[in-house]
Amino acid sequence: MLRVSFLRRIRRRAAAPPTVPALEDRDDRMTRYEFLRELHRVAVPRNYLEIGVNDGRSLALSRVRSIAVDPAFKITVPIRCDLDLVKATSDDFFAQPDPVAHFRASPDQLEGQDGARRPSDDDPGRACIDLAFIDGMHLFEFALRDFMNVERHSDWSSVIVFDDMLPRNADEAARDRHTRNWTGDVFKMVPVLARYRPDLIVIPVDTQPTGVLVVLGVDPESTVLRERYEEILAEWVVSDPQQVPREIIERRAAVAPEGLLAAELWADLVRVRDSAATDIQGRDLLRQRAVAIVSGDRRT
Ligand SMILES: C[S@@+](CC[C@H](N)C(=O)[O-])C[C@H]1O[C@@H](n2cnc3c(N)ncnc32)[C@H](O)[C@@H]1O
Repeated sequence: MLRVSFLRRIRRRAAAPPTVPALEDRDDRMTRYEFLRELHRVAVPRNYLEIGVNDGRSLALSRVRSIAVDPAFKITVPIRCDLDLVKATSDDFFAQPDPVAHFRASPDQLEGQDGARRPSDDDPGRACIDLAFIDGMHLFEFALRDFMNVERHSDWSSVIVFDDMLPRNADEAARDRHTRNWTGDVFKMVPVLARYRPDLIVIPVDTQPTGVLVVLGVDPESTVLRERYEEILAEWVVSDPQQVPREIIERRAAVAPEGLLAAELWADLVRVRDSAATDIQGRDLLRQRAVAIVSGDRRT
């Protein structure tokens, strides 16, 4: 099982100071868009949910059935997918009775498998998310709610990606925005998931400019975050300036995007997802692969 406590052990073994060049000197790193484009290729999602669309540049990478949610999108690029575009906040979107109905297969698609999710044997009517990109309001409590809501409509083989999880300084991470590049305080998802959801596989990725977080092995039945929501907010929603841990600023636990994308994990995920394997088999396999990636490809 890959836990962030595991990441901490790795970090403790790492020599300080970090031997990588300063972040601003490493502009050769993959961007979030390049990473997402490749993620669509290797994870072969049959559908895609995007929270936070803006001008549509990340949405433009999807070729599968998609749902995109933003109260103020202004799309300026061509979109090439079967799209349900929702002008709403993500909270309002998820408050609907059947928010991801667009992903449910119609009876004729159950044979052809074109873009729609293959229903599980025990719940053939359930629509669920293969790939989600959480990039809406960049305040911690919004990102937490987005994750809780996305997870409810996912299963163990779903891939959930957060943007802007590795701020480069406290100004960028401020809750009260005052910089051009802004991550807000969503970076807190990393320690919060480590503490409350050690069952998840959480992989920070060293993309430019401000990193992404890949979360695997999710559990739609989990109620931990919902039950502890008020307690979590009471501890983590604090006024500026934000205290961003050095390991986040220095990206000590972040893996190289190229290494993660090249991992066998994706082929296994697709194979097991599309087979009759049980959730437990699939999750165990994912964990083994993820541990190998993080231990063999960290940037410190
Ligand atoms: C950083 S931009 C998204 C960029 C886009 N994903 C990309 O990479 O090209 C953030 C977007 O989140 C939207 N947003 C703000 N509050 C939101 C909310 N509560 N729910 C969903 N989207 C929200 C904003 O309107 C804005 O367009």
